[in-house]
Amino acid sequence: MPDIHTRPHPDATVAAALDRLPRERLPELLRRIPKAELHIHIEGSLEPELIFSLAARNGVALPYDSVEALRAAYAFSDLQSFLDIYYAGASVLLHEADFHDMAWAYLQRAAADGVRRAEIFFDPQTHTERGVPIGTVIAGLSAALTKARAELGVDADLILCFLRHLSEEAAFETLDAALPYRDHFIGIGLDSSERGHPPSKFERVFARGRALGLHVVAHAGEEGPPAYIIEALDLLQTERIDHGVRCVDDPALVARLAAERMPLTVCPLSNVKLCVYPTMAEHKLPALLDAGLCATINSDDPAYFGGYMNQNWLDTFAALPQLGAREAWQLAANSFEAAFADADRKAAWRAEVDRVVLEVAG
Ligand code: HPA
Ligand code: ZN
Repeated sequence: MPDIHTRPHPDATVAAALDRLPRERLPELLRRIPKAELHIHIEGSLEPELIFSLAARNGVALPYDSVEALRAAYAFSDLQSFLDIYYAGASVLLHEADFHDMAWAYLQRAAADGVRRAEIFFDPQTHTERGVPIGTVIAGLSAALTKARAELGVDADLILCFLRHLSEEAAFETLDAALPYRDHFIGIGLDSSERGHPPSKFERVFARGRALGLHVVAHAGEEGPPAYIIEALDLLQTERIDHGVRCVDDPALVARLAAERMPLTVCPLSNVKLCVYPTMAEHKLPALLDAGLCATINSDDPAYFGGYMNQNWLDTFAALPQLGAREAWQLAANSFEAAFADADRKAAWRAEVDRVVLEVAG
């Protein structure tokens, strides 16, 4: 069993560079440091401008007059108030090219933010319920990922998420429908309305996914209690927890997550926009890192929450003076540790992290 001592440490040269890096150069480090994004819903990257242009292309009527009117509706009080608008926005996605264009736009932004590895959630049920075949969704997304590997140097894969407000039977049907495309996704996840939909509801479909050799993650402890995180670990046997920030309400769970180096894919701007924390200054990321957790920074739904990867990194560090260059290195190293990629690629990205630190520190 790994313990907190297995948390990665910079070697002595890199540690010295991190310690001498002046605070005014921190934003440059945050922008340039190579990183993995492990919690991004591709439908949450759909910008208002693209929603309007796809609506026009596909003849879909929108309940908003303009991009500005739509953007003005992005004032959320909790997860559900966001999900209602997020599912409405996805209604413009009909054809393979629409899914491609959405993912390609995201991947270009990710590349510009120093993202080397992206593990991208998609919600097939949001589309199949509207009559869009799952093959159309996967073909469009996959084409963009293939192009990104070749043209952007971003290594990306897909994770299929089940909507937890729907039944386990519907999740089984979705997994069955996706099996002809098994080579096009690497894992399964669980998202949508958390409260009242515990991980235990999906125990059997996750067992099936594991038997198929798929990676397993689940949203837990975003709005839901620590008990949902424990269920995700024990019943779904997840390899990462998405969000997970409410673990802080259960010190024994925090100790377990640290001891197991169980990654948490934390999404700081999302947490503030959905009122998990009143302000960024109150975010618990510093405490999670201090406790030895494998916490990472991610954008969740960047078109809705005020920014992509680098905006999340910049805003988080700006609001939390406890976070400095050491923590930037730790968060980047954690992101590659937590990624579902082979050891050689992870080692290459880690070496690149160190090279960038030495360059920025001068
Ligand atoms: N939580 C749950 N479901 C979601 C989210 C989220 O932050 N984003 C998109 N679907
Ligand atoms: Zn999410």
